[in-house]
Amino acid sequence: MDRTYWDKLAGVYDARVLNSLAADRSGVIGDAIDGLANRRRSCADFGCGTGHYLPALAKRFERVVGVDHSRKLLDAARKRIAKLANATVRQGDLARDRRTLEKPVDVGFCMNVLIMPDRNTRQSIGANLARWVKKGGRLLLLVPALESALYVNQRYVSWNVKRGVARSDAKQAGLHARADLLEGIVPLDGAPTKHYLAAETRWALGEWGFDVDSVQRVEYDWTTEFAKPPRWLREPYPWDWLVVARRRS
Ligand SMILES: C[S@@+](CC[C@H](N)C(=O)[O-])C[C@H]1O[C@@H](n2cnc3c(N)ncnc32)[C@H](O)[C@@H]1O
Repeated sequence: MDRTYWDKLAGVYDARVLNSLAADRSGVIGDAIDGLANRRRSCADFGCGTGHYLPALAKRFERVVGVDHSRKLLDAARKRIAKLANATVRQGDLARDRRTLEKPVDVGFCMNVLIMPDRNTRQSIGANLARWVKKGGRLLLLVPALESALYVNQRYVSWNVKRGVARSDAKQAGLHARADLLEGIVPLDGAPTKHYLAAETRWALGEWGFDVDSVQRVEYDWTTEFAKPPRWLREPYPWDWLVVARRRS
């Protein structure tokens, strides 16, 4: 999941990568953004991708800067913000370029970015987020939920058993066979992807210098997991963890 990976995905990004803001069934993310928004506050979208969040942030904050290492994704983000006077984007590696931001921001957003399997990269990004968010400022973090991945797998196995597949075969086709569950690494669209336990988000953020205010579910439709989910597949829906955290003073 390095820069080349994301550059290569650019052509199919919108079809393959979840737009969490649009897919959020209950508007939990929008509510959290509103809770942090203030026209006198600066904010940054760390790992902004094609900039799905930038227009909403530009509307609610004094200014927003989107940072990403993929030049191709940033080209799309630039088009999206072309008419927004208080939004900019810049290229930078969140793990390596400590000087990506000259000044820390009041509020940082990091939405489904800390998903790379490499722990050292995640740790470096986490430490940099603490540098880039003002003391007393807030971080909104969205990460895949490991609890959800396990639950989705259970539903997938049941679905196959209902279709007449032997349980042992259905389990083999599920994610257990390909996952490093103890580390929370589960394939997503074929790519090994870090998933988090709710308790783990508190632990990781604490290590990076943040205190967690809240951890909430962001639920998505089953179509985000399966191309044609059966109609009986309803609540609870698959979810990500949305964390609001305060940078320790
Ligand atoms: C799943 S996408 C999410 C994009 C966006 N936050 C959203 O929710 O629509 C992950 C993004 O993180 C970016 N990213 C991953 N590692 C990065 C790094 N080390 N430095 C900068 N950007 C990074 C990728 O290029 C990609 O745009």
